[in-house]
Amino acid sequence: MSADTTNPVFKSGILRWIDDRLPILSWGYDEFVAYPAPKNLNYWWNFGSLAGLMLTIQIVTGIVLVMQYTPNTTMAFASVEHIMRDVNYGWLLRYAHANGASMFFVVVYIHIARGLYYGSYKAPRELLWMLGVVIFLLMMATAFMGYVLPWGQMSFWGAKVITNLFSAIPFVGEPIVTWLWGGFSVDNPTLNRFFSLHYLLPFIITAVVFLHILALHQFGSNNPTGIDISKKDKIPFHPYYTVKDSFGVGVFFLIYAFFVFFAPNVLGHPDNYIPANPLVTPPHIVPEWYFLPFYAILRSTVYEQLFTPLGIFAWFGITAKLMGVIAMFASIAVLFVLPWLDTSRVRSARFRPIYKWLFWVFVADVVLLGWVGGQVPTEGVVWIGQFATLYYFIHFLVLVPLLGKFERPSRLPESINKPVLGGAPGGAQAQPAE
Ligand code: HEM
Repeated sequence: MSADTTNPVFKSGILRWIDDRLPILSWGYDEFVAYPAPKNLNYWWNFGSLAGLMLTIQIVTGIVLVMQYTPNTTMAFASVEHIMRDVNYGWLLRYAHANGASMFFVVVYIHIARGLYYGSYKAPRELLWMLGVVIFLLMMATAFMGYVLPWGQMSFWGAKVITNLFSAIPFVGEPIVTWLWGGFSVDNPTLNRFFSLHYLLPFIITAVVFLHILALHQFGSNNPTGIDISKKDKIPFHPYYTVKDSFGVGVFFLIYAFFVFFAPNVLGHPDNYIPANPLVTPPHIVPEWYFLPFYAILRSTVYEQLFTPLGIFAWFGITAKLMGVIAMFASIAVLFVLPWLDTSRVRSARFRPIYKWLFWVFVADVVLLGWVGGQVPTEGVVWIGQFATLYYFIHFLVLVPLLGKFERPSRLPESINKPVLGGAPGGAQAQPAE
């Protein structure tokens, strides 16, 4: 990260002049061009840069959308329709932004899953991981507030349900909700502040992403074997990974474009094309698909069946609603402490025969929670949701800590060259580097 005036990279005198005085160019060069990356990174390592790309697309399309959008309850819905029908390519901007949010979550969920599989959250990358969890929380807040802006039925009722959750907090809950709303109902002040924060948060996310990258470059990227590697096993980010990332971007854009051009509304809810009406509650209020697993956790604490695993809390006077809110926040909080819950010294699931399976069971559990979150909560669905919620916490709080103690990992390769050059010693199931 040095501002080296003799840096041969900057041939132009002007660039050298600027860099001598403001070493931002050599910083950018060191971090994004020369950055020494492990030579065996596979395609799962594309998703960090894809997330950065999606953040950029969301900010750019959002800024242009705002030029035609009106954050007022009497005009918001109509202004979105105006963008869709009258503004040149307004439909494209709006669909790119709305589907972009979904794509952003797809990318970040895969990015998180990659971290879980290859143990990227473990020492010395704990803070990198925790900054990631902060980004994830900020993303959820941003997406939630963005969904309110078109002021359709789901916007209004989604906002109402989620903000009302705070009323579960004992004593101060109700005043907090009034304060959040800026009045006694979800109304114009609520829409205004959500709009303001929806505009602000992506820039805060950008700042945290910079810290995320800084933390990443402190120790360098993890790799599919999870072992620490020497300097000779690293290659410069450019051109090797810029090319690989570009290919990933091409494939990803095909999928993104499919949704924008051929199925722009499949990921949304049709009720959001009905203007918000505080007097008509939709029969089934559901959040966007990317919130469904957390929504399922939130709703899993119904106490009609007192003998369900979570029903025991009712005996201590803790309301079902409060328990749901606590469970939902705990499901994210547990990610913060994951680096310390995982007791295994081996990072990558490639060398962890049991964890490898548990990872996929966990993924299936989250998908199941997502399905539960989208269903009408009949008794059977609630039961499934409760067990899936319980398993979610058992995974992190019981299985992951215990597994580190009892699992016998396969032998690790001495270097990442070993798997490349014909198998690790001692029968390790290392794969050739992709
Ligand atoms: C706006 C969202 C995000 C952006 C732009 C972003 C960006 C990046 C980039 C560019 C990398 C390096 C390339 C790679 O390893 O894929 C990276 C690595 C990483 N990210 Fe993120 N990230 C985001 C969200 C998250 C979240 C939500 C988490 C976890 C909760 C996370 C955890 C990690 C970890 C652990 C690494 C190191 C991976 C390794 O070296 O194996 N990131 N991130």
